[in-house]
Amino acid sequence: MSRFIPLSIPNFEGNERKYVDDAIDQGWVSTGGAYITKLEESLAKFLHTANVAACQSGTAALHLSMVEAGVRPGDVVLVPPLTFIAAVNPVKYQFATPVFIDCDDSFCMDPLKLQEFCEKECSFDGTQLSYNGHLVKAVVVVHVFGNMADMVSIMDIAKKYNLKVIEDATEALGSKYTDGPLTGKFAGTIGDFGCYSFNGNKIITTGGGGAITANDTKVVDHIRYLSTQAKDDVHYYIHNEVGYNYRMTNLQAALGVAQMEELPEFIHRKQENFKLYCQLFDGFELGKMIGFREDISSNMWFYSLEINRDKVQATMREIITALEKRGVQTRAIWGLINEQVPYVHEATYKLEKAPYYAERILNLPSSTQITKEDIEYVVQQVKEVLEEFAHG
Ligand SMILES: Cc1ncc(COP(=O)(O)O)c(C=O)c1O
Repeated sequence: MSRFIPLSIPNFEGNERKYVDDAIDQGWVSTGGAYITKLEESLAKFLHTANVAACQSGTAALHLSMVEAGVRPGDVVLVPPLTFIAAVNPVKYQFATPVFIDCDDSFCMDPLKLQEFCEKECSFDGTQLSYNGHLVKAVVVVHVFGNMADMVSIMDIAKKYNLKVIEDATEALGSKYTDGPLTGKFAGTIGDFGCYSFNGNKIITTGGGGAITANDTKVVDHIRYLSTQAKDDVHYYIHNEVGYNYRMTNLQAALGVAQMEELPEFIHRKQENFKLYCQLFDGFELGKMIGFREDISSNMWFYSLEINRDKVQATMREIITALEKRGVQTRAIWGLINEQVPYVHEATYKLEKAPYYAERILNLPSSTQITKEDIEYVVQQVKEVLEEFAHG
């Protein structure tokens, strides 16, 4: 059989089957059951945070955060252009308006441009920040690929302008600061809200699933209440707010509890594999590995190679197709969100780095089960393909 190395597949080496069977045997498969609480407790312990609510997806986590942050129709939310569109869609669910702020070389939001936008493009009355007469309510900060945004600067800016900070840590479960004033703080536990995803390609998976934490434990309780149809009385069906069917199921949580047991090992493997990729690409002039911030310990969830566009002009599609033929699955970073049909008319602020990286970044296979030989093979194929394109 010919060789095929997938981009990112789940890893079920632990107690997944045992716990899922147990949930089925007990008959607790829906939105009630002990595994949900177990998963919430294990996430809270791991993240050194008081309270975590498990929900159906990272997107649901982001939406509930936005609801809880009080984002209303007509409000403005500052968002990144270079990320998965699910980080921005919840702004539209709330009939609010996104404004796209550029990233820096970490792929995460550039705090200098964020500050400049607030100062030069908005007006501040000492309490409220306004853009074109609309209240700027929140900022969505994505910790891209397990890297972390400059949260010290972003939190300062948010405090100054009274903005709620929603951290999209869907790709960064386990990344944390190891230096500076935020030492020990995990991605998702710094802002007002932190959102996680357990989609199939994430560092742990529940099939589909997510979780939310917040800097106020009562807020997490309220989010949990909203996620379960805002039920005030379970016997008499009393609902005092508009709720959502966003609660995680016990079946998903059973998978999640097993995955949490393996998370430290998964992070370790991701870190080792990243090191190997870096060694193998070292000195290669057509592409270089993009690193992670030096003041963090990253979960190194996803690997990025920056293609040297002075030498390789082939399109991403051509490169990806050529690699696919050699049994290596790769992908382009993302299409810019501000260029997608629902967002083409929204405001952007000084987008330079986002378009630069959008046409240069190739993501490489990053599953936790990938072997050393697989990585050597991937690197060899990537080098050959880029060399072929460079020499016409
Ligand atoms: C940056 C980012 N935000 C949000 C999401 C949405 O998470 P989910 O797929 O669990 O809804 C994902 C991943 O899918 C993501 O990568």
